[in-house]
Amino acid sequence: MAGNTTGQVFRLTTFGESHGSIIGGIIDGCPSGIRIDRQFISNEMQRRRAGQSSGSTSRIETDEVEIVSGLLDDITTGTPIGLLIKNTQQNSKDYEHLKDVYRPSHADYSYDKKYGVFDHKGGGRSSARETAVRVAAGAIAKLLLAHSGIKIDAYVFAVGNISMPETQYYERNSIDKSPVRCPEPDVSIQMQNYIEKLQADGDTCGGAIVCYLNNLPPGLGEPVFDKLQASLAAAMMSIPSAKAFEYGSGFESIHLKGSQNSDNFAIREEVVIPYRNSAGGILGGISTGQPIWFKVAFKAVSSLMKERESFNRKGEKVIIPAGGQHDVCVVPRAVAVVEAMAALVLADHLLRQRSARV
Ligand SMILES: Cc1cc2nc3c(=O)[nH]c(=O)nc-3n(C[C@H](O)[C@H](O)[C@H](O)COP(=O)(O)O)c2cc1C
Repeated sequence: MAGNTTGQVFRLTTFGESHGSIIGGIIDGCPSGIRIDRQFISNEMQRRRAGQSSGSTSRIETDEVEIVSGLLDDITTGTPIGLLIKNTQQNSKDYEHLKDVYRPSHADYSYDKKYGVFDHKGGGRSSARETAVRVAAGAIAKLLLAHSGIKIDAYVFAVGNISMPETQYYERNSIDKSPVRCPEPDVSIQMQNYIEKLQADGDTCGGAIVCYLNNLPPGLGEPVFDKLQASLAAAMMSIPSAKAFEYGSGFESIHLKGSQNSDNFAIREEVVIPYRNSAGGILGGISTGQPIWFKVAFKAVSSLMKERESFNRKGEKVIIPAGGQHDVCVVPRAVAVVEAMAALVLADHLLRQRSARV
C-alpha cells in the first residue's frame, strides 16, 4: 500500500490499523531547536478524543502519545521523531460477524477490489483511528509554526441543516466552550439537540468545518502543482469522510461578477495588501500574507444503529445488525484533524519557502 506519507520537507508517515496493538508515525524533516510541550500535545489529542459530547463513539481511547525518538531533553534534534499511540479499547470480537461482509459506504468493497483482502475489524487502515497520529504530528507542526506566529483555528460551521449565519474568525476559547465546537452558543445548542435526536433514531449526520489560518507570511506555496490551496485541498480530502473543500469565495464565486470578486489593493499600515481578500489569502497558489480560510464538508458516517441489508464476498445477501462503535456526527472531533492537517501543510510549505531565493 503506497501513499502513507505526506509532505516534501516536513514529512509525516503514519502506520497502524484500527484494531492493531498500536498506531504511530514518523516525522522526518522537523528542524532542531523546537521545545516539545507535552501538555500541548495532550490537549490537542483531547480535542479529537471521543466522549466529549453526546453522540460520540463508545470507543474512548486514552490517546497518550509516546515520543520514542528525535528529542534531547524535550527539544527536537533534527532527527526523525517517532510517535506511538496504543490501541486499548478495540473490541475485535464484536466485528466477527462482519468477516467477508461489505459494509455499505465503508472502504471494505474498494479495498477488496484493490488488494483482494480487507480488514473487517473496524475498517483496519481505512479507519479514522489513524487520524490520532495526524493530530499528534500536527501538534508538533503547530509548535514549529508558533515560532513564526502562525495561528490555526477551526470550528464546526454546520451540522446537518443547522448552520452558522456566516463565515468569520472565532477565537479558540469560544470554540472550545462548545461541546460540538461551534462558537455561536445558540447554534451550538441546536446542533447538540439535533445530534441527540439522531442518536435516539439510530441515525448519523454530516457537517462542515471552517478553518482560519492567520499571521501567515506572504510567499508560502509553490506556484504550479503544489499551489498552497492544492496542498490544503489534498490534505483535507485525505481525512476519512471528507467530501468537499472550498476556500476564499469558493462556490460563491460562480455567482460573483469580476467587479464584485476582484481583490483590489489598498495601503494598510504602509503596506500594499489585497484588502477585500476574496481570494482567501492566496494568489497564484502563493500566500499573500492575508488570512486564509477554507471550509471542508463531511458526510454522515455509514455505521448506523439500525439493521441494514448488504452483501458478502460470495454475493450472498446478509443482514448487518444494528450496533458497533461509532460517532453520530464526526465533525466536532474532526476539528482537531482539520487543524492538524493544515499545520502539516503549512509547516512543510514554510520550510520549502526557505529555499525559494538567496
Ligand atoms: C474523527 C472521525 C471519526 C469517524 N468515525 C467513524 C465511525 O465511527 N463510523 C463510521 O462509519 N465512519 C467513521 N468515520 C468515517 C470513516 O472512516 C469513513 O467514512 C470510511 O473510512 C470510508 O471513507 P470515505 O467516507 O472517506 O469514503 C470517521 C471519520 C472521522 C474523521
